Amino acid sequence: MSKQNLQLTPEGRLKHFLTIEGLNAEILTEILDTAETFESMPKGVNKYPVLMGKTVVNLFFENSTRTRSTFELAATRLSAEVLNMDIERSSTSKGESLLDTINNLEAMNVDMFVVRHDQSGAAHFIAQHTPPHISIINAGDGQHAHPTQAMLDMFTIRQHHKDFSTLKVAIVGDVLHSRVARSQIQALNMLGVKEIRVIAPKTLLPAQIESLGVKIYLDMTEGLDDIDIIMMLRLQKERMNSAFLASESEYYKCFGLTEERLSLAKKGALVMHPGPINRGLEIASAVADGEQSLILQQVHNGIAVRMAIMSMIIQPK
Ligand code: CP
Repeated sequence: MSKQNLQLTPEGRLKHFLTIEGLNAEILTEILDTAETFESMPKGVNKYPVLMGKTVVNLFFENSTRTRSTFELAATRLSAEVLNMDIERSSTSKGESLLDTINNLEAMNVDMFVVRHDQSGAAHFIAQHTPPHISIINAGDGQHAHPTQAMLDMFTIRQHHKDFSTLKVAIVGDVLHSRVARSQIQALNMLGVKEIRVIAPKTLLPAQIESLGVKIYLDMTEGLDDIDIIMMLRLQKERMNSAFLASESEYYKCFGLTEERLSLAKKGALVMHPGPINRGLEIASAVADGEQSLILQQVHNGIAVRMAIMSMIIQPK
């Protein structure tokens, strides 16, 4: 079954949320619009009955602070029952396979799995092996995709720039190992931004990255010129199995986002980072904590965007 068919019902509604690829601008815009309604909840209201009677399982096989917490808050604010699986203490550590773990959780009448896994394709694999009444949301799989992160990034951008078609966006850093970058590029293209640049050393660029519709820059001075949005990426040392960099200090010297470098972009350019940030390695503290930084706003927006995605899956139009 194709990824597109797996994610959408025959009517074109969201069934699973696995990757941006195969979706369309209409669905992405509906996610952003729905998130806006959750973001502007009347004062004093912080719960909706949308997932009342439903059970959501957070299945995180890899560490997470932002994604896991905001998924839990999102599901709770939609009135779901939430089961946070403690993988370290689960029977996975006794050799139980991924599929057996899933089958056992299914037997507890759950409705949705939110899955983070270090293997690319894990969320798709689970979606292919679960019964039709269960939905899967990909919370990050290996180097493949992190679609809810991309959507909260799009939501954050739209809070500042209503029209995507005017924007020049630069994605900076370890594109090679980044599931976030792949999903961001797909979402930015689908929403029609004017230009996407990737800025990185050659060793941290995937082969044929141009085929995703981006321009390559190996130098920050040229790459940041006239840019509206700078999306920084974390150096993913845990995924580097050989020497990709001469040294960390050399990397910061060439690709770190300092105040001086930020001034090369358009006046007032906005700075984003999915987190966790490495201060002094990919971004200076003065920039991360500065006026142009949206980093904590991105985290905040993760709740409304994840509420939107879960509610669209559970309540197809
Ligand atoms: N952005 C992101 O995925 O952060 P966590 O790893 O903390 O979830």
